[in-house]
Amino acid sequence: MNVDDKQMDTLAALARAAAEYAYAPYSKFRVGAALLAADGRVFTGCNVENRSFGLTVCAERNAVFHAVAQGCRSFTALAIVTPDSDVPVGPCGACRQVLSEFMLPQSRVRFGAGGSGEGAVDTSLGELLPFDSLHDLAGRG
Ligand code: THU
Repeated sequence: MNVDDKQMDTLAALARAAAEYAYAPYSKFRVGAALLAADGRVFTGCNVENRSFGLTVCAERNAVFHAVAQGCRSFTALAIVTPDSDVPVGPCGACRQVLSEFMLPQSRVRFGAGGSGEGAVDTSLGELLPFDSLHDLAGRG
């Protein structure tokens, strides 16, 4: 279950590759995500924008939905890469909520501008979404 640094490097490289598929003609801000599943599979996603801006879907949610549609519902780590940013950009609030449906709070999350290189933030889903209702309420009544 414990995901090591080497696995996180691999995930970040896959997220970086996924960002190349981003459809982001409006923001010009590409995002790639790679999710490691409990069974070892990796699922990637990129952001997909729309001229009706509100229909845009983030890379992280596309990775989750891609995985669920392949029968996978349990993830142990996530990497996000934003190659058009100088600073690491973490997942938006909506994506944190969606991720928490399928990942435990201790799951590793790495986000960075350039992939597996320097300057990435290594954290956990619990740090990004504290007081998560699904896990905090689990086991009660
Ligand atoms: N975006 C993501 O894909 N993930 C995030 O966590 C932040 C934002 C996308 C949405 C939009 O296509 C672009 O980045 C600019 O907001």
